[in-house]
Amino acid sequence: MSTRTASAIPVASRVGGFTYAIRNIVMEARKVEAAGRKVRYLNIGDPIIFGFRTPAHMVEAVERAIRDGHNGYAPSVGILPAREAVAAECSSRGMPMSPDRVIITSGTSEGIELALTTLAESGDEVLVPTPTYPLYTAVLAKIGAQAVFYRTDVTRGWQPDIDHIRSLVSPRTRALVVIDPNNPTGATYPLDTRRALLDIADTNNIPLLADEVYADLAFDGPVAALAAQNADAPVITFSSLSKAYLAPGWRSGWMAVGRTARLDDVLAGIKKLADGRLCSTGPMEYAIVAALTGDRSHQATFRAALRERALLTHKRLNAIDGISSVMPSAAFYAMPKVALPHGVTDADYVLGLLRATGVLCVYGSGFGTDPADGFFRVVFLASPTELSTIYDLIADFTQDFLAGRRR
Ligand SMILES: Cc1ncc(COP(=O)(O)O)c(C=O)c1O
Repeated sequence: MSTRTASAIPVASRVGGFTYAIRNIVMEARKVEAAGRKVRYLNIGDPIIFGFRTPAHMVEAVERAIRDGHNGYAPSVGILPAREAVAAECSSRGMPMSPDRVIITSGTSEGIELALTTLAESGDEVLVPTPTYPLYTAVLAKIGAQAVFYRTDVTRGWQPDIDHIRSLVSPRTRALVVIDPNNPTGATYPLDTRRALLDIADTNNIPLLADEVYADLAFDGPVAALAAQNADAPVITFSSLSKAYLAPGWRSGWMAVGRTARLDDVLAGIKKLADGRLCSTGPMEYAIVAALTGDRSHQATFRAALRERALLTHKRLNAIDGISSVMPSAAFYAMPKVALPHGVTDADYVLGLLRATGVLCVYGSGFGTDPADGFFRVVFLASPTELSTIYDLIADFTQDFLAGRRR
């Protein structure tokens, strides 16, 4: 064997900067499972693995599309009926939209990647919340752009710090990321905050990337489009069938580019990049039509289930000595804080919890918080009975951990 064939094949350096804690931590869980302990996976926001079911009419739409032979490549922007349905959906939420400004994507994730890749050069800056959904930082690392973090304030229910955002805008700022309703905090933003965010985007001519994948999952009912407060601000919105339509594995979503002519070149750039990946999953595009034009009664049931779990989570976590947690108002996440002793990190706590109890959460630093701050994210999609058992385990472990016995 020559030395050339024996040596390891190098990996591009950009891979080093790409981290996604929600999946990375599963490696640790597998070790715990291999050692014979049952693991309760609270790391990933997938309603299907907790028993929630995709609406039947969406499944039928995909079946029918496959049987009717819609198995070829779709147009790279997506089929017209799906784009029309998305445009009507955006417009009804207060963001006037035409189908030619909609692109059907492989989930919100692909839309985010297309937008960031179109907007940011290597060395450019993108304003990202802390804590954040980690795909943003991962994609920015991949394209060599800089994530510049703005605070969301736990003492004010995880609201974004508007003055901090304003202070971070620079000539290199290429986008402002807003996740509302939010993962990982479960916060929704009031109208004056939304207006202020739009004003920053509008006056500085910075595209606001509005991640609205949880818009239908606010416990009090669907929230309006962020752009509804200023339809001429430069906003690109993203959503999908993954969360509110209970079909995350279908990888089916959309992005819609706001009506301002300032975004026309960006729209053309996104379409150009979209050509290169041919199309999103074709048969599932028919399910977008079925989802957005059909019966949504499953959402009311889902929201009620989420509110019940959120209340239980809030009550049980706050009853634990050393833990405090803000009540979420949407989605299926809470971001509690454990008061860690000096020198101990959130990963120490989360990995200790996993090894001692089999309960798998994600440490806050995986979402960009300071490891010493002791945040961790809980996914509360499990049944209330299962969650109760989980919170018993967290309570016992935390008591021991903070007493120093398991450090
Ligand atoms: C805030 C946020 N954005 C985007 C995504 C990705 O969703 P999709 O399945 O639509 O790609 C998620 C998934 O958890 C998310 O929480």
